[in-house]
Amino acid sequence: MHRIQQRSRFRRKLLAWYKTSQRILPWRQTHDPYAIVVSELMLQQTQVERVIEKYQAWMKRFPTVRSLAGAPRADVIAQWQGLGYNRRALYLHRIAKTIVSDFGCVFPQTVDELVQLPGIGRYTAAAVVSFAYSAHEPIVETNVKRVVGRIFLGYKALLHAPEERLWRVAHELLPRDRRSYHFNQALMDFGALVCTAKRPRCEICPMQSICASYPDILRARPEQLRVKKPVYEKQYFGHPRRIWRGKILAYLHSPNAKHGATESAIGKAIQNDFSAQRLPWLRSVIFTLVSDGFVQYKGKRVVLFKT
Ligand code: ADE
Repeated sequence: MHRIQQRSRFRRKLLAWYKTSQRILPWRQTHDPYAIVVSELMLQQTQVERVIEKYQAWMKRFPTVRSLAGAPRADVIAQWQGLGYNRRALYLHRIAKTIVSDFGCVFPQTVDELVQLPGIGRYTAAAVVSFAYSAHEPIVETNVKRVVGRIFLGYKALLHAPEERLWRVAHELLPRDRRSYHFNQALMDFGALVCTAKRPRCEICPMQSICASYPDILRARPEQLRVKKPVYEKQYFGHPRRIWRGKILAYLHSPNAKHGATESAIGKAIQNDFSAQRLPWLRSVIFTLVSDGFVQYKGKRVVLFKT
């Protein structure tokens, strides 16, 4: 099939599929760039189902960029609890402060300006200009890479495809008009619901006739479907450090640690088998929380950072 024909069929089929199968997601009810930034930062490392409730609670607590900029840091971190990778809460807070102080409360409208903000990479910037401003801009995240790669390059070629190539194909696929907003949302849903990572649902897929991977992909070995190499995280006492960071913060937010806690009290609270031998390790974890601005030392006690 000719490339141009394959692309226009894909566009048509995807938008038709989206009409009947799209997910109702709260961040699709708005074009407010602040709300889009909040949702996309949450979605960077957390599953959609988990984000929905947290996003709604966040928007209730901090409905505008100004309300977030003016909030104490401890409140911002507390509101992030449950999402993991807390650094994103600090990025959001810094973004809000910058938008208020340097941009007169108005988000920039170009990818080049948006990527200057902390925590906003090329993908998130593209999502903001597409979802808030309906810009003609492709968005290439994990789902999109998989869908576009499988259908247009083939699942084997996808394993070695440079990121740039996927952005190029995604760009060529974009519809010319304002449908690019729906097209980008549709690609994500299609990747999440049909062209899934481990067990793609080819039997119900409307793309069978134009897909470079069908039907061979049905006989693929699991390692041939894994595009992203698993990220290796060093383990400490059975968990990566970010999990221990989360446990420390959760404890310091609990009523038991209303006035902070000593290092050894924290150790005992987060590990049943904690012993003094682990104090140097624990201290090194707490120091990362200090340098990220989550906690501070008051004498021998560790307390939540309050602004
Ligand atoms: N993952 C990242 N951004 C998303 C969005 N806007 N909708 C659904 N899943 C997403």
